[in-house]
Amino acid sequence: MVEAFAVASGKGGTGKTTSTMALGMALAERYDVTVVDADTGMANLLFHAGLSDADTTLHDVLVEGGAPVSAATYDRFGMSVVPCGTSLAAFEAADPDRLRDVVAELAGDTDVLLLDSPATLNSKSAVLPIVLADRVVVVLNPTVPAISDGLKVQEYALSYGSGIAGTVFNRVRGDVGDVRSKAERYFEGPTLATVPESDSVQAARSAGVPLLAHAPESPAAEAFRTAAGRLSPNDGDSGDVAERFRTAVIPDPP
Ligand SMILES: Nc1ncnc2c1ncn2[C@@H]1O[C@H](COP(=O)(O)OP(=O)(O)OP(=O)(O)O)[C@@H](O)[C@H]1O
Ligand SMILES: [Mg+2]
Repeated sequence: MVEAFAVASGKGGTGKTTSTMALGMALAERYDVTVVDADTGMANLLFHAGLSDADTTLHDVLVEGGAPVSAATYDRFGMSVVPCGTSLAAFEAADPDRLRDVVAELAGDTDVLLLDSPATLNSKSAVLPIVLADRVVVVLNPTVPAISDGLKVQEYALSYGSGIAGTVFNRVRGDVGDVRSKAERYFEGPTLATVPESDSVQAARSAGVPLLAHAPESPAAEAFRTAAGRLSPNDGDSGDVAERFRTAVIPDPP
């Protein structure tokens, strides 16, 4: 079985990478999980996963005649983690079209694929995870710009046949019931969780460790476990998912 999720938001800094690692760790209690830093231009998952010294990353796989994806796959925190490097030159040398083959290969060997997606929708590599995922987890902050950008992601995903798994409200301070119930009218899928603004999240990031490893009992970690519990990954046929990624024609961005 496999289901591919894109973790996306449109807006930068909403908590996509934090959410990818937290949802991945929570799902890894029941499933074989692979997380991929599909934000190849502004990669930062490596810093959240203690992989800032990784020798081989996705950038090395995405060049012609590059490394096999197995060389860029690391066992961390009960998951398979595929980090991406941060060099601009390596990003420029990487061919985003190759990411389809990489994800197709990974899909054959895992139950849940989580694609940490770029902010914005302004390039082929940026839209790829949203277009190819089975479902998109939309990470929002309770602010008008974040919700507005999240809606653009939803519109784009739906127009290419990707589903919406639901929304995660992150960095929530106080009661946002009103904002949340308004947003629920516009977003498909449930609110998966409301994650509080939390010093534990910052501390985990500074330590280079995912939140669920650094502060597993924190309210924020608990909220992410709740979100993961609501995802119920589908047991899609691995071959079908791999074929979809391999043969997809990535549209020009909007
Ligand atoms: N619930 C939270 N409480 C406090 N800080 C948070 C929370 N969620 C995320 N942060 C912090 O916000 C910053 C951005 O988070 P993260 O890197 O996960 O966002 P992102 O959406 O992946 O960003 P980018 O668009 O740059 O890839 C990090 O420093 C992270 O520690
Ligand atoms: Mg990120």
